[in-house]
Amino acid sequence: MTEVTEFLLNRHSEPRLQAPAPDQHTLERALACAARAPDHALLRPWRYLVIEGDGRNALGDLFAAGCPDASTPAELEKARNAPLRAPMVIVGIASPKEHPKVPEVEQVMSAAAGVSFIELALQDAGFGVMWRTGAPAYSPIVHKGLGLSEGESIVAFLYTGTVISEKPAVPRPEVAEYVERWPG
Ligand SMILES: Cc1cc2nc3c(=O)[nH]c(=O)nc-3n(C[C@H](O)[C@H](O)[C@H](O)COP(=O)(O)O)c2cc1C
Repeated sequence: MTEVTEFLLNRHSEPRLQAPAPDQHTLERALACAARAPDHALLRPWRYLVIEGDGRNALGDLFAAGCPDASTPAELEKARNAPLRAPMVIVGIASPKEHPKVPEVEQVMSAAAGVSFIELALQDAGFGVMWRTGAPAYSPIVHKGLGLSEGESIVAFLYTGTVISEKPAVPRPEVAEYVERWPG
């Protein structure tokens, strides 16, 4: 068992985060891991935005403006404050390209794989990470505010920072519950 596998068998998300955010060196290494994602035809169909500091308030304004279910002031405030749950939010954007052999779904999966690699690299460096989406990820208002082009989509809001307190362990299914040999 390699250290990588041992790490994967123990990694978990953390929702309760505070400053400091990942330092520049750690962040750059984690973002470089995104370019190691499997990528059919090497289309590089992804890009990322790094948001911290006051940028999170601007993101919160977009969340509030783009949240169709938030109608009461309390719900709007909750949406507005959502990006403040961590000192840094990395937005993972799928940016599919026209290609005769690579359908859009494969390109979105490549973007998701890249997000996963960033998450793992940041966790490996000791930071807490939580991959979130929710209604803001699918809001045209949020897309426009973040500068997405036609055809692009948000695959992740990766919240990251220093863990305040660890969440309770998430139960993991046994391998046999989700794997079979085929043909039996
Ligand atoms: C595409 C995607 C979107 C997600 N969106 C949310 C979300 O909006 N809110 C949330 O609580 N968890 C969300 N999750 C799940 C968490 O990131 C996390 O994986 C889950 O809480 C299980 O924790 P674990 O990573 O420790 O297994 C999402 C996961 C994925 C892959």
